[in-house]
Amino acid sequence: MGVRKVGIFGGSGYVGGELLRILLGHGGVEVAFVTSKRFEGKAVHKVHPNLRGLTDLKFSSPAIPEAAELAELFFLALPHGSSAPFAAELLKAGKRVVDLSADFRLKNGEEYERWYRWKHPFPELLREAVLGLPELHRDEIRGAQLVAVPGCMATAAILGLFPVVSKGLVNAEPIVIDAKIGSSGGGASPTLEGYHPERYGVVRPYQPVGHRHIAEIEQEVGSAAAGKVVVSFTPHAVNMVRGILCTIHAFQTRELENKDVWKAYRESYEGEPFVRLVKDPTILHGLPDPKVLAGSNYCDIGFELDEHAKRLVIFSAIDNLIKGAAGNAVQCMNLMLGEEESKGLKSPGIHPV
Ligand SMILES: NC(=O)c1ccc[n+]([C@@H]2O[C@H](COP(=O)([O-])OP(=O)(O)OC[C@H]3O[C@@H](n4cnc5c(N)ncnc54)[C@H](OP(=O)(O)O)[C@@H]3O)[C@@H](O)[C@H]2O)c1
Repeated sequence: MGVRKVGIFGGSGYVGGELLRILLGHGGVEVAFVTSKRFEGKAVHKVHPNLRGLTDLKFSSPAIPEAAELAELFFLALPHGSSAPFAAELLKAGKRVVDLSADFRLKNGEEYERWYRWKHPFPELLREAVLGLPELHRDEIRGAQLVAVPGCMATAAILGLFPVVSKGLVNAEPIVIDAKIGSSGGGASPTLEGYHPERYGVVRPYQPVGHRHIAEIEQEVGSAAAGKVVVSFTPHAVNMVRGILCTIHAFQTRELENKDVWKAYRESYEGEPFVRLVKDPTILHGLPDPKVLAGSNYCDIGFELDEHAKRLVIFSAIDNLIKGAAGNAVQCMNLMLGEEESKGLKSPGIHPV
């Protein structure tokens, strides 16, 4: 079989740029086209300067039926609400879709009205969509037509929580998640919040209650718990460009020892190519830190037991643009196309940055 072709809708954004970087070095697929209306006709390195000399691709803006002829699998790196019609039309043409927006992450259409104040235009597709988290849904992803990559902060939170909730080590409520995120999480479009004098040096809580990622976290962790989970989630914008650290406070169902928690993580993530357990009090980087993950597809998870408060505090770190978006999407693509799961994704983070 020749090289498989893929297309990228939304290639001028930060996620689109990271998809391009990873796919250009992948070796098993060719990027047939990459879209942008704003930069149509321009070489991709004019927007993504790190790609200069690596490709002759130019941004284009094909109509969907025309684009559907050019590839077998399509990434949608578009804003929430914009992806759904693209996905519906591509699926109708018999194509496979990996969507990075929130449009197909939730199973229940009514949840979109509650969390996104948006009436889902294709609720029937929600049943078909598979959440793109290989650690939880690997076999379903292999056969899926439509994969919905989870949100970046949700990815870190779900991976940190899933083993200890599914094995009943912590209560389903309360679970408190304090997330820190870098500025690239907001995308490439200029905003006042992201303007350098306003963004530089901040530790700024935002959407302290009611953040949309709560719905995804409760959906996935709740299914692991076989019951309702209530998550209290507050993100903070911090002074990084990339990276997420979720500090998760959960409460023990019984008196736990370190070995109980180790066992839960080891059993859940044994053989996982991109989950690493990091808990070594003897070294400087003995707990997860997103700084050492920049550019990599790893999720680093660590924990401490708090005897005083009967708490389990979990630390889960990722690069929001890689395991939180483009890298995870390519991991899903590898599964869908029958490629080696970690193909194109093996580079470690850069240290020091
Ligand atoms: N940033 C992250 O850390 C992150 C992590 C996980 C998931 N995500 C999700 O991934 C998606 C992309 O995020 P991003 O950060 O890359 O955003 P971004 O930097 O703002 O880029 C958005 C892209 O979508 C295109 N676009 C905008 N409106 C469109 C429309 N109506 N129709 C077609 N194309 C349109 C833009 O192209 P033009 O050049 O034509 O304007 C641009 O290429 C979003 O849904 C985001 O929530 C982001």
